[in-house]
Amino acid sequence: MAIALQVDSITKSFDDTSVVKNISFAIETGEFLTLLGPSGCGKTTTLRLIAGFEQPDSGSICINGQIVANQNDFIPAEKRKVGMVFQDYALFPHLSVIDNIAFGLNGQRKEKQKRADAMLELVGLSDFGDRMPYELSGGQQQRVALARALAPQPDIVLLDEPFSNLDAALRTEVRGEVRSILREAGTSTIFVTHDQEEALSLSDKVAVIFEGKLHQIGTPSELYTRPVNQSVASFIGEANILPATAYGSQAESALGTHRLLSPKEGAVEILIRPDMLHLQPTDEGKPAVILWREYYGHHQRIGLQLEDGTQLIARVDTQIMYNVGQNIRVSVYAPLLAFD
Ligand SMILES: Nc1ncnc2c1ncn2[C@@H]1O[C@H](COP(=O)(O)OP(=O)(O)OP(=O)(O)O)[C@@H](O)[C@H]1O
Ligand SMILES: [Mg+2]
Repeated sequence: MAIALQVDSITKSFDDTSVVKNISFAIETGEFLTLLGPSGCGKTTTLRLIAGFEQPDSGSICINGQIVANQNDFIPAEKRKVGMVFQDYALFPHLSVIDNIAFGLNGQRKEKQKRADAMLELVGLSDFGDRMPYELSGGQQQRVALARALAPQPDIVLLDEPFSNLDAALRTEVRGEVRSILREAGTSTIFVTHDQEEALSLSDKVAVIFEGKLHQIGTPSELYTRPVNQSVASFIGEANILPATAYGSQAESALGTHRLLSPKEGAVEILIRPDMLHLQPTDEGKPAVILWREYYGHHQRIGLQLEDGTQLIARVDTQIMYNVGQNIRVSVYAPLLAFD
């Protein structure tokens, strides 16, 4: 696979505050990468550096084999083949849907019309070309913004929290649609969100950023099952993190003796996902009392307290219903990840 984008050790400061700290990553052609991290961690700044709206202080950015920014060269945004979709769609309010999509296209009027029509069809809005933006729903406006970004056949599309203005139900629907449109178009995409569920469900790969630093990049399942540290573990899905003492391939915690995925020695912290905990009414496992319970139809979340005061969150199916105050036993069988 060809590399669509290579970002090498880029840094960016604003007024002596370092916002992007030595970030490196690459995406392959057609890949969908998500930048995930809390508000203010530098996601938008990273996108703006790739798009050419900001210049890196150091490092280099290479799009389809061409250097677009390093210490010597800087190719401005309008000369890069990068499409961008922002949170607020930013459609031109005085232009019709079709004119919005054709806006960034060069060439003959007929050619432009043809390309814009094809893009409208791609996003499923063929009958909406003559409408004005205010005559569209939020989800439809978002699809027009995507069609406009894709129309000039960019090498890369950058999507900055494009679904955050949509309500929860529409958001799930539109993000699925957008994902399949991009897959169909074979576009290399960088998507920004601080919603971990969105990141896990949509992406080929996810890059987790905290305070301007890239902590880990990997497939959604790699991040969930093999997070590199406690911060990534807690940001990707729910996590119980317990102090433990490691003796090679085993560790001892308030929950008993565990197998470890890779050997460690001394004081560690172990990761137990809520779905790894087994509750049983038998005499196996550590005694615990149920503090609270949340019912979600297909599963339930349960707050537990061990005899030493350790609190845990479990996620189990709804075949057995548990009650607050009930005494149960809890155990974990799967081998665990331990952090220093
Ligand atoms: N032009 C600028 N001048 C000064 N500081 C800036 C500028 N742009 C961004 N920052 C600062 O850089 C930091 C990172 O901002 P950025 O917009 O990249 O975060 P983000 O991860 O996109 O956050 P959010 O999830 O809230 O959109 C913030 O502290 C922000 O205040
Ligand atoms: Mg942002």
